[in-house]
Amino acid sequence: MAATRATRRHIISYRHNSMFEHLQPYAGDPIFGLNDAFHRNTHPKKVNLTIGLYYDDQGRIPVLQSVETVQRRLADDPSPRVYLPMEGLAAYRQAVQRVVFGSDSQAVAQGRVATIQTLGGTGALKVGADFLHLAYPDSEVWISDPAWDNHHAIFGGAGFKTRSYPYYDPATKGLAFDAMMDCLRNLPSRTIVLLHPCCHNPTGVDLSHEQWGEVIALLQGRGLIPFLDIAYQGLGDGMEEDAYAVRTMVDAGLTVLVANSFSKNLSIYGERCGGLSVVCGSAQEADLVLGQLKSMVRRNYSSAPWHGGHIVAGVLNDELLHARWLKEVADMRVRMAEMRRQVHQQLATKLPGYDADYFVNQRGMFTYSGLSREQLLALRERHGVYIIDSGRIAVPGLNTGNVDHFTDALADVIGESAR
Ligand code: LMR
Repeated sequence: MAATRATRRHIISYRHNSMFEHLQPYAGDPIFGLNDAFHRNTHPKKVNLTIGLYYDDQGRIPVLQSVETVQRRLADDPSPRVYLPMEGLAAYRQAVQRVVFGSDSQAVAQGRVATIQTLGGTGALKVGADFLHLAYPDSEVWISDPAWDNHHAIFGGAGFKTRSYPYYDPATKGLAFDAMMDCLRNLPSRTIVLLHPCCHNPTGVDLSHEQWGEVIALLQGRGLIPFLDIAYQGLGDGMEEDAYAVRTMVDAGLTVLVANSFSKNLSIYGERCGGLSVVCGSAQEADLVLGQLKSMVRRNYSSAPWHGGHIVAGVLNDELLHARWLKEVADMRVRMAEMRRQVHQQLATKLPGYDADYFVNQRGMFTYSGLSREQLLALRERHGVYIIDSGRIAVPGLNTGNVDHFTDALADVIGESAR
């Protein structure tokens, strides 16, 4: 033993030979980072409005009854947890197609939609980005301004140059539709345009049906490639209503990619359940695309999770559980709308003259406040109210127990700036 160690001393230097010290430190994620800071804060009335997680009126992340029923069945199921196929569970993929494209979709019936189960909506975006880079490596990806920051990171990481199109008008706290159209009108064909069919993250500002009609005609006329990110389906106007842009684009005959997520609408974030669908011109093309998507999955992570896959398939393919799930999503949607209404109403009294209409005009999980950096810091330090630096407020963090404190805090910091 001693001899072996002596021999090793000859060949092993005692100074560690570092290989990675030249790398830049990771700055952290602005959403996850502030969410962590919130949990470290000891303010007795703290309010977490940082992250896109749905909380109930007691401030808890719910386990939906529909999900719990399936989870119990799975816990009692002794079958082995085998690898899923690269494309995911067949029943899951059918469920994705039904929810996203509708039970009467012609494109689905004609076999023109290639769908895979993915690691959450983020995984769907990543696989879709890799796939598009294979097909159109020289295209640019245009993303709304402001954006969910990870969109730039994902498409940039896949090798694309990313750019921004105007989306939000701070003056109206609404859509900068004319500027958006002027920008899209000048893009070369095969440019990839990332769009949110509903519940835009981070602004909560969505397009009207008429505006979608104009966007769709433009995308079609210029040969652009829409990539739709639908992470909040059901939390805007309803499960079917929120899919309006997706279904209208498919009906118009566009080739379109759709990344969807079940994290929020099934409250199963850590199960990592999403889907990527590519709507093609023919069943043969969809087969070809599916093969390429499988190859992207295989070289990234081989296959999607068994447990999450069975939860989604179990809830969505059982008519009774599906109906219960729709009701549970409706309850979330109604609760968030009620919180928006209460904030709007309270601010009318606490901050007369302040235009808080954006709380009720924007929809879904987020509202874009336009609060300044100083105001956001004062909210955190003085009141324990945590909002990310862009001023995006995650509405489900509000409940009947903290909404008064929240509007008091807003009145304090906005009122102070006005004085
Ligand atoms: C959010 O935007 O807060 C959520 O989508 C969570 C995330 O992954 O950023």
